[in-house]
Amino acid sequence: MVPASPNQPELPTDAAAALRQQIRHHEHQYYVLDAPEITDGEYDALVRELESIERDHPELATPDSPTKRVGGKPREGFQKIAHSSAMLSLDNALDEAELRAFDARVRELLGGTEFRYIAELKMDGLSMATRFADGTFQLAVTRGDGSIGEDVTENARTIRSMPLAVAETAHFEVRGEVVMNRRAFERLNLDRDEQGLPRFANPRNAAAGSLRLLENMITASRRLDYYAYFLLNQAGLPMLDSHGESLDWLARQGFKVNPLRRICPDVESALAFCREFDARRDSLPYEIDGVVIKVDSIAQQVALGYTARAPRWAIAFKYAARQVETVVEDILIQVGRTGALTPVAVLAPQVVSGVTVTRATLHNEDEIARLGLQIGDTVVVERSGDVIPKVVRVKELGSSRREFLMPTECPVCHGHVVREEGEAASRCINVNCPARLKESIRHFASRHVMAIDGLGDVLIEHLVESGLVKGVDDLYRLTQADLEALERMGPKSAANVCANIARSKLMPMPRVIGALGIRFVGERTAQLLAEHFGSLDLIANATREELQQAQEVGPKVAEAIFDFFHEPRNIELLEKLRSERLIFTHAVVKREGGLLEGLTFVLTGTLPNLTRDDAKKRIEDAGGKVSGSVSKKTSFVVAGADAGSKLEKAVALGIPVMDETGLLGMLTSG
Ligand code: IVH
Repeated sequence: MVPASPNQPELPTDAAAALRQQIRHHEHQYYVLDAPEITDGEYDALVRELESIERDHPELATPDSPTKRVGGKPREGFQKIAHSSAMLSLDNALDEAELRAFDARVRELLGGTEFRYIAELKMDGLSMATRFADGTFQLAVTRGDGSIGEDVTENARTIRSMPLAVAETAHFEVRGEVVMNRRAFERLNLDRDEQGLPRFANPRNAAAGSLRLLENMITASRRLDYYAYFLLNQAGLPMLDSHGESLDWLARQGFKVNPLRRICPDVESALAFCREFDARRDSLPYEIDGVVIKVDSIAQQVALGYTARAPRWAIAFKYAARQVETVVEDILIQVGRTGALTPVAVLAPQVVSGVTVTRATLHNEDEIARLGLQIGDTVVVERSGDVIPKVVRVKELGSSRREFLMPTECPVCHGHVVREEGEAASRCINVNCPARLKESIRHFASRHVMAIDGLGDVLIEHLVESGLVKGVDDLYRLTQADLEALERMGPKSAANVCANIARSKLMPMPRVIGALGIRFVGERTAQLLAEHFGSLDLIANATREELQQAQEVGPKVAEAIFDFFHEPRNIELLEKLRSERLIFTHAVVKREGGLLEGLTFVLTGTLPNLTRDDAKKRIEDAGGKVSGSVSKKTSFVVAGADAGSKLEKAVALGIPVMDETGLLGMLTSG
């Protein structure tokens, strides 16, 4: 049972112990059982509470405290440690006949006595031995050469599914596999793309690389898992007669033990397990490379013993290699929905475990450089859980190989391709590029941008597929009749969407900047740019240096903005949006004293909340003037729904335009 939260502890010793127990319980629920009982925030709060006690009373900090998972102590290399007994590998069965031959040997050696197998998944990671004394995690050692490995204790401590303390106080050793699940692996590689670092080729390499980092803060961020598969030194432990029981015992102690295991009365049933998981392999959250079949009874394991290399009581049934060699005939470019250009290898067709492979992703330019790949080379291609196979390495250089160059022009729309500083991906920056149009519209219409209610994914899909919308600007030319003609569009919702599109024209300039989807320019940067420049044209014509004058705009952001406005297709879009009378200017107000003294306002259209008279009165109360017509002397135009010629004139004269929110801001923030 978990003790109640110790809000008013009498002794911090008890409080710390209680918190530790609680945290361990929740870690086990989350990382081992995948069944969290509290939110991440509640968990963090518990850890912070314990950290604060340990900070105030360092004498209470125990080495097995959950707060020790993220150490941060830099380490100098790894110490070599001798294994308590050799970490052997397993003999392999490469097909069903070899597994039957193993079974025949076991049967013969056991002289006709009855026995059964236990089948487990062979996790594709790296093996690690962990030692426990007095219920506390002491030491973690990599396999190394089997007799001597490396001390990775501090790094292993950061693995959330590694219990740091267990109920059992006897000394024992556990062996298991450190793995990285596919999701963590994909996330890690995306992060590395963003940072311009080379990708890890597969989760096993990523797990090995992460476990052997000298900086365990980084290991902690890598989300490794530790699956226990073997218990050593059973002396002193409760009687465990079989491997299955020792796995159950390990699970009870808090270890993550793969639940996908099965007692098999004979070899045929073990083979059925192998076939079943070969078929399910791609849908597992982690990679496996086979099945381990073990004689379940520990007495029988002892009787069978070991060869110099491996136990006689176990075998690894290896799945067919998912790698194949083939020639890269060409490299094509795919343009994704965000405009990212992905190089794809065109392969001479080859069958990999039953599937014909003709394409493999190459991710980005850096990956091609890392592989040292050129068109014409022979490569090793691997099919893993992903749908798209990947090139693992270059096997042989082609005799007439030719270098691949990232295009500078988008293959879909011929717009500029730009690779921003610190990014792995090259992107097409034309907002209206057909490859990214749907995504551009989705962004344009989204709540924090132009806020066009009712313009959801399905409608966007229909608008683009029907050809009604070929660019974001076409939205403003849609009629109610156009919309009604679409599938599942009643007259009422068509009218609504039309009205919402029209209303979005009144969005203030920061929203318009945000709507363009310029790389690195989010809501805040858009606001700062608007305040600094006051007009979209000034931003579009600014040099990189001028852009950097705006607050929080560094060289990288300036470059992205500059690139954006130097793509002629984006300028074309801008002109079309201008002719739809979107707001391209921004009131740059610097007031002292809070009065609207000396300012002249023109009101036009229907404001959402204030009546014309209300607005007029509030401006005049604050010392401002309200005029009926727009001239060069007008300070601001306040525009509401269905604003007409006055708004048009303001835009033509470059008079700052604001909406009701802007006006209320001026009235209240002074
Ligand atoms: S049993 C003496 N069980 O496969 C016991 N090994 O060559 C030997 N592995 O490097 C290991 N999943 O790290 C066992 N469920 C599992 C396993 C497993 C993965 C790895 C192990 C070793 C290799 C066997």
